[in-house]
Amino acid sequence: MKLNWAERWVVNNPLRVLQQRIQIRRLKGMMPLKPGSIALEVGCGRGKGAGIALEEFPLSRILGMDLDIGMVRKAQAKLSAQRQRISLLAGDVTYIPIRGGSVDAVFGFGVLHHVVDWRTALGEIARVLKPGGAYFFEELYPALYRNFITRHILLHPAEDRFSGQELREALATAGLSLKDATELKKLGILGVAVKEI
Ligand SMILES: C[S@@+](CC[C@H](N)C(=O)[O-])C[C@H]1O[C@@H](n2cnc3c(N)ncnc32)[C@H](O)[C@@H]1O
Repeated sequence: MKLNWAERWVVNNPLRVLQQRIQIRRLKGMMPLKPGSIALEVGCGRGKGAGIALEEFPLSRILGMDLDIGMVRKAQAKLSAQRQRISLLAGDVTYIPIRGGSVDAVFGFGVLHHVVDWRTALGEIARVLKPGGAYFFEELYPALYRNFITRHILLHPAEDRFSGQELREALATAGLSLKDATELKKLGILGVAVKEI
């Protein structure tokens, strides 16, 4: 689901960039990657996360993908200095158009909770990871984005939402083993899960 004006303002904001840098450093502490790793960012938005991931992790390349072609165009403009190592495409995380077992890491910042069929998305993320590959994620829970105030301001799917318990179960079903996480009770989670070998 594409963002409405209110959430576009939240994510296309210098404070969000600062928050993402802090989050990505924390994720690096949870699980470093080998030099030369290949990564995918799903729901990359205007691409700041992919750019920071390239600076913080020893990646050889990152592919950024977003449902919203407008966001992909913004990312293309913003990331032109890093274009040797970044590719971008418009696409849906429930049908990732790349070969199974082809990436060492998938990043997803605030994406799954926008997806109606988020369980299929998790299955796709697991499919494209190499065995032992890492899924780094930040996700929000409905108590934050669908409470009595935010449900009138933000636009998110209403059915089959997840909090910590449902997310943990779906990760395990997809063959992704939660390695480390920081959870703000009822509000959201930052973590890394590893594709089982
Ligand atoms: C909350 S924004 C986060 C953007 C960016 N990752 C960040 O942290 O600033 C969620 C992004 O996911 C994208 N998105 C939503 N549903 C998607 C889907 N099914 N497949 C791919 N991207 C999707 C939206 O277009 C939006 O750019």
